[in-house]
Amino acid sequence: MTDGEGEGEGKLAFALPERPHLLVTGGAGFIGSAFVRDVLARRDGTRITVLDKLTYAGNRENLAPALADEEQGARLRFIQGDIADPDAVAPLVAEADAVLNFAAESHVDRSILDPEAFLTTGVIGVHVLLEAVRRTQSSRPIRFLQVSTDEVYGSLGQDDAAWTESSPLAPRSPYAAAKAAGDLLVRSYVVTYGVDAVITRGSNTYGPFQHPEKLIPLFLTNAIDDAPLPLYGDGMQRRDWLYVSDHAGAIEHVLRRGRGGEAYNVAGEAELPNREVVAALLERLGKPWSLVRRVEDRPGHDRRYAMDGAKIHALGWRNRVPFPEGLGRTVDWFIANREWWRAVRSGEWDVYYRRQYERRLATSTNAER
Ligand code: NAD
Ligand code: TYD
Repeated sequence: MTDGEGEGEGKLAFALPERPHLLVTGGAGFIGSAFVRDVLARRDGTRITVLDKLTYAGNRENLAPALADEEQGARLRFIQGDIADPDAVAPLVAEADAVLNFAAESHVDRSILDPEAFLTTGVIGVHVLLEAVRRTQSSRPIRFLQVSTDEVYGSLGQDDAAWTESSPLAPRSPYAAAKAAGDLLVRSYVVTYGVDAVITRGSNTYGPFQHPEKLIPLFLTNAIDDAPLPLYGDGMQRRDWLYVSDHAGAIEHVLRRGRGGEAYNVAGEAELPNREVVAALLERLGKPWSLVRRVEDRPGHDRRYAMDGAKIHALGWRNRVPFPEGLGRTVDWFIANREWWRAVRSGEWDVYYRRQYERRLATSTNAER
């Protein structure tokens, strides 16, 4: 499946019931909560159960807009629990029409500091979910969607062609390796047990409610406070930026229209060097480049990500939000929602920030523009 070998083994598009019940794991995180908010706001009768461990990255406040609305809140159930816990997972999968797995440890830098949780959630957790889906499918149809990432493909050189779904998996960080392992487990359950599963591989996602550990919200929130912006190495690493509502929409599209057993790239169609992203956000904020500090690079830093999105385009899906518009919306949201990010940047945050940046900032140099 992930490399096209499985063509023909999978099932066709999945017919969800008219008022489906979705199990959304990791639904209190950044992209999962956007998916939940967007689906509930459509008021089409869809019911959602969120299963989320509420790690440092999970936040019930991310679901507040849906919970504040009586009609939407009535269709949303929140359960705190771990996808690696079969007792928590089995009864919830048994009553769902589809399972969408957003749950993961999601930050590369943390995977370099402490890889273990990445494996527990990304490998054991995915396996527990797949086992529950396998048991449920013996009595009725159920689809599994694994939310994956372009990072499973590794790193591109400047002149390399963008990755297609047939590109080899060549992860380079513990985060990417755990995600690739999850993809391979999904593939094995499709081939061996006939599980109806699809995979989406999204590129770097940004937007409201993103945890401020990631590049765009970290630099935005630091810049609002006139704090230094730690740019790794030469800042010429390239990422492809995908607005969060586009990512959430693509996932729903693949859930309904994707061919069982297949993986789909979700490209942002906005490949930029980090320096340009930082310059654009400083310009939007009206803050000076002198805030940017060149710091010691991330070990094994992937140089470039770029994906070919032709396969999902052929399913009838297209990006809607160009990068300048998405960045503008994101900047406005972070300016208007300081309480949200100040609360997230407290407690555990200080310990992480010191570990990741104290020495780097102490040894930083000017980042020439
Ligand atoms: P996030 O870190 O904001 O959210 C992850 C959520 O999963 C949190 O709510 C957390 O509490 C929950 N979680 C973690 N471990 C869990 C467990 N064992 N059981 C239950 N819940 C658990 O991450 P995100 O940025 O929203 O990413 C969501 C998914 O999308 C991840 O699978 C990630 O690999 C993938 N992805 C992210 C990006 C990106 O740029 N952020 C890009 C492509 C793919
Ligand atoms: P990040 O948001 O962590 O996403 P990913 O590592 O999954 O691509 O980082 C995006 C890019 O920004 C990546 O090239 C690393 C770089 N970066 C910095 O230069 N400084 C930082 O403090 C962070 C968090 C990221």
